Amino acid sequence: MVKILFVCLGNICRSPLAEAIFNHKVRAMGLETRFRADSSGTSDYHIGEPPDTRAIRNAMKNGVVIEHAGQQLKVSDLNVYDYVFAMDNNNYDAIIRVSHGTPYRARISLIREFDPREEGGEVPDPFFGGEKGFQEVFDMLDRSIENLIEFLRGNETMRQ
Ligand code: 4NP
Repeated sequence: MVKILFVCLGNICRSPLAEAIFNHKVRAMGLETRFRADSSGTSDYHIGEPPDTRAIRNAMKNGVVIEHAGQQLKVSDLNVYDYVFAMDNNNYDAIIRVSHGTPYRARISLIREFDPREEGGEVPDPFFGGEKGFQEVFDMLDRSIENLIEFLRGNETMRQ
């Protein structure tokens, strides 16, 4: 089982959306025994809370169900997960800080390195914006995750 962790700041908007999109896609492909995603935040602002209602509504509009309770990234996560994907540069830096001084196995990068339209860009924080911002986040995550799953499937095949 390849384990993926998506990371944002609050773990109520971007990363729970990414987790839900990833798990929705792998289930639709019948690959849920091979790939599994979870999500966390670099802050402790929303531990135990459900995702933002705007994220839940946006996901539903796009046919994806979110089920998640907010949690904060732990240093031990970097040895549990195979891949850790940050939504933006600030959160990428925060993950690297958490990892400092300990050996870990996860590969850490920005999720939009897999976006065919803008490699290496950021997923902007939609928290202070409206529905348009959530749909833009959904669309860039959807493109990036589609491409990520193709990459992961290729890697798995090479190992067999
Ligand atoms: P997220 O969005 O990092 O995509 O979950 C945010 C959620 C909450 C806050 C900031 C960003 N906040 O400041 O509480």
